[in-house]
Parts: sequence; C-alpha cells; structure tokens
Amino acid sequence: MEKKNLDWANLSFSYVKTDYRYVANYTAAAGKWDEGGLTTDDQIVMSEDAGVLQYSQSVFEGLKAYTTKDGHIVTFRPDLNAQRMYDSAKRLEIPPVPVDQFVDAVHQVVKANEAWVPPYGTGATLYLRPYVFGISPVIGVKPADDYQFRVFCTPVGPYFKGGAKPIYVRITDYDRAAPHGTGNIKAGLNYAMSLEAIVEAHQAGFAENIYLDAATRTKIEETGGANILFVAQDDTLVVPKSNSILPSITRRSLVYVAEHYLGMKVDERPVYLKEVLDGEFKECGLCGTAAVISPIGKINDHGKDYEFASGMEEMGPWMSKLRSTLLGIQEGEIEAPEGWIHVIG
Ligand code: PLP
Ligand code: COI
Repeated sequence: MEKKNLDWANLSFSYVKTDYRYVANYTAAAGKWDEGGLTTDDQIVMSEDAGVLQYSQSVFEGLKAYTTKDGHIVTFRPDLNAQRMYDSAKRLEIPPVPVDQFVDAVHQVVKANEAWVPPYGTGATLYLRPYVFGISPVIGVKPADDYQFRVFCTPVGPYFKGGAKPIYVRITDYDRAAPHGTGNIKAGLNYAMSLEAIVEAHQAGFAENIYLDAATRTKIEETGGANILFVAQDDTLVVPKSNSILPSITRRSLVYVAEHYLGMKVDERPVYLKEVLDGEFKECGLCGTAAVISPIGKINDHGKDYEFASGMEEMGPWMSKLRSTLLGIQEGEIEAPEGWIHVIG
C-alpha cells in the first residue's frame, strides 16, 4: 500500500479529508443501531430541526492510530473510548453505541485509510473522531428519536505549536463544569461554551485556560482539552481528582505507567490552586490524546506569574520520562500492559 504524499513531520493539528468514514444509524422505529459500514461521502444531510442543531445533543471521542517501530498499525485502548462514549451518550439520553460496534468501526476506518496513517518516526499520528448525534427533528425540549454514529480520521501533528516545548497558561474566571453538570462526559456542549474563553486566552498570549472547580474556585480542575498532572517536590505524581473533569484515558494510563514502569508514588486527590502558587510542585503538564503530555512552564493567576522549577525552556525530567514511556508503549518500543494495544494490520 502506497502512503499519501504528505509532509508528515510538519503536520499541524487540523482537519484533512481522508478517503473513508464509517456511518451507522439508529431509529426509534427499529429500536437498535443498524450494522453500519464505510462510505466515501463526507457530507451529512439532515432536518433543519435535528436534535443536534437545536439542543446540542451530541457526544464524541478522540483516539489515535500509530505506526509501530516494526511497521504494524495499532490503536491505543479503543475499548476505553468506547465505554466513555457509552457513558457520555447515556447522560444525554442518546442510545449508546455498543462497545464492540464502536471498536469495530474504529478498526474499519483505520484499515480503510491505511495510506493516511503517518509512518513511524514522523511524530504524526492518525486522529480518529467517533461521534453520535440526534438527527431527527425535535422542537419541544426532548431527546431526538433517531441518531447517527460516525467515525472519521485525519492525520495530525502536535496539538500545541512547538510540540513538547513548555506552554504558558492562565487561570480563567470562566467555569467549565458545574458540580452535577456534564464536565465528566465528552459532549460538544462542553467545548462550545469554552470557545469564548479560549479565544480570549489566545488573544492574551496564553496557550490554554486552567479551569477551577465552579463551586469554590479553589481547586484545579483541567484545561479546555486535557487533564493536568503535577510532580511534587518529593517526586510524587499528584493528579487532581474531581467528579466534574473528563476521565482522561491518557491520564489513567500515565498513572499506571508512573507506578508500574517508573516506580513513582501517585497521589490522586483534590489539588488546590494555593498549593501550586505556594511552590508545592516542581513540574506540571497537560495530558490527553491530542496533547499527549505538554509541559506547563508557567501559570498566570490574575496577572501574577508562577513559574515551575522546570521552567519555560525544557520539559522537566519526570514529564519527559512519562511522555517517552507512554509514546514508547504506543509505538511498540516498550512492552505494553495486557490489552492496551489493538493491532489493526
Ligand atoms: N479533558 C478534556 C476536556 C478533553 O477534551 C480531553 C481530550 O480527550 C481530555 C481531558 C483527555 O482525555 P483522553 O486522555 O482520554 O484523550
Ligand atoms: C482529544 O484529546 O482527543 C481531545 O478531544 C482534545 C480536543 C481536541 C478536544
């Protein structure tokens, strides 16, 4: 199979239309998801009154396919994305896509778009975007009757410009998620309401916003598109725990890597902004599928800067070890825990 002629090493995190995508449909009349299949048609025709257009009834996922050192194409823990989309769907009264159907759809899309999977060693990956949305008309506030599940893919480079270079972020005054809201699911509505905050942050020179807990505004939650990790002065990996943040698969994997591969102590607990500003942590980073691990060099809290000991020039030693171990597992250079790597071809 001949690869597409792309400048793989210089891809940004943006959409490129690829050859095949997967589509399945659910109708209330049938009461189940149909078998689904691949198509080359990237366009969607729907009612002007579709549930997704009126009341934002949609949830999505993000995961990647990698080329390993020995030339296989693999995905990383797609069953966890499938389960999370199942949970997200239930929260928005969307009929959940069965976990096996999700994993199979991802598999089919990667296989059909093999020519778009970036080669090993380029730093690029194939980003997969599964999503499900209400497609039939609703006018009173209620769930739609019919739904569509799609998976497309696009080759991507680093989410933040400069790849692994430390970023400068700010504490925002916007809230992301209410205590009993939707912060723990991956719904488009959580991102729609973050757009004003991210545009303003970028205009002010920051790469991202750190959201605090909405109830007390004292605890660190996450950023608009990633969870946050800290390394304490005694080398413990400290991971913010909250019911209103997204249960990141990268974060859960890194906790395992820290404990079982790097011998780190891990502490999952609420983390107070005051601890950060008081210098309790020497390293900090964002983690997620898109972000991988992006080190945070400096945080701005209402005009006052706090710089981590690792600084703005380089990633700190622990973040660097976590990143290279996780990437090594994903790219087949380091043995993975049972069940983490799904070989596609
Ligand atoms: N938090 C938010 C708000 C996200 O959008 C993402 C991205 O998926 C993450 C965290 C990281 O989750 P994961 O590691 O499963 O990609
Ligand atoms: C991801 O990491 O997959 C995300 O969804 C983050 C962002 C692109 C929304």
